[in-house]
Amino acid sequence: MQPVPAHRLSIAPMMAYTDRHFRWLMRLFTQKSLLYTEMVVANTLHYRPEPDHHELLLGFDPIEHPLAVQLGGDAPESLVPAAIQCQQRGYDEINLNVGCPSDRVQKGRFGACLMLEPEHVGDLLAQMRGAVDIPVTVKHRLGVDEQDDLDFLMRFVEVVARKGTQVFIVHARKAWLSGLSPAQNRSIPPLLYERVYELKRHFPELTIVINGGITTLQEVKQHLQHVDGVMIGRAAYQNPELFWQADHVVYGAPLKPQLDWLPILASAQTYFREQVAQGTKASHFLKHLLGFFKGRPGSRHWRHALTIAIQQGQQDVNLAELFGSTIGQAENLAITG
Ligand SMILES: Cc1cc2nc3c(=O)[nH]c(=O)nc-3n(C[C@H](O)[C@H](O)[C@H](O)COP(=O)(O)O)c2cc1C
Repeated sequence: MQPVPAHRLSIAPMMAYTDRHFRWLMRLFTQKSLLYTEMVVANTLHYRPEPDHHELLLGFDPIEHPLAVQLGGDAPESLVPAAIQCQQRGYDEINLNVGCPSDRVQKGRFGACLMLEPEHVGDLLAQMRGAVDIPVTVKHRLGVDEQDDLDFLMRFVEVVARKGTQVFIVHARKAWLSGLSPAQNRSIPPLLYERVYELKRHFPELTIVINGGITTLQEVKQHLQHVDGVMIGRAAYQNPELFWQADHVVYGAPLKPQLDWLPILASAQTYFREQVAQGTKASHFLKHLLGFFKGRPGSRHWRHALTIAIQQGQQDVNLAELFGSTIGQAENLAITG
């Protein structure tokens, strides 16, 4: 199978971060990168069938395409109907989470602990694939606990691939199932990119996507010499501007002019007011703007002012005005040194 082109660059699923508002905002920076939803727990869809609740968890704006939904679960009874619903809603891909180490997820016996059951994972993915026409992919770790050598990883991928899965997104570190918080599990186990490259060399016919600790387009280009795709999580959230030239660098789209924040903020403003008018809490949108201008003069002022607006529960913020004072602040800083 040819690698699905969109996988060349994607934005990782992140609970409480990659909701539809954030994804909408990311489309102001990149049109081609593949976006992922937050993990949606299949059991929740199963046991809470109210249409409004499903819309809340799965609704999206067509502008978000190409868009993949990530599901969490360990039973075909909930995952298969969830996959069918996601296809009907128009998602471009369904991804199964086999990488999350949180306690809550382990109690449900899914997430990273499923890596210990490759046959089961392969069967789950096969059953989901049997029910839909869109690609069904898996996101996993290098290993879990003491099961962390290259052989374990190879066997996991070999078993799951034998049952038909072709796209593997690999967070290039293992997970400790007890003793570390999810956040620690995203920083303490070392990143071993070479393992992921080895996987691609061993299974050249599979689409292998690397994830973990990647923060620049330069690094993306380097990884793409070894694997089919790169997934970026925290750096996308903390600094969306990173994706401004991504379509050019990764997908060969024309070079864009230097980023002009005013039209971006004008689009964001329109969307923000529409959303608030429809009942969205302002803070649910505004929090996603905190990473704008990261590293630029005045960005601290922007963050500070937005944080206050969020804390005060302000339902409207004039983004262009705030930007103006951010620039003013930056100029003051420059003048006062
Ligand atoms: C706040 C947060 C929430 C996350 N939620 C999920 C999730 O729902 N599903 C998932 O597979 N990974 C989740 N992750 C892990 C990311 O998808 C990614 O694998 C990890 O952050 C490493 O990539 P990065 O270094 O580029 O951030 C989450 C990460 C963060 C920071």
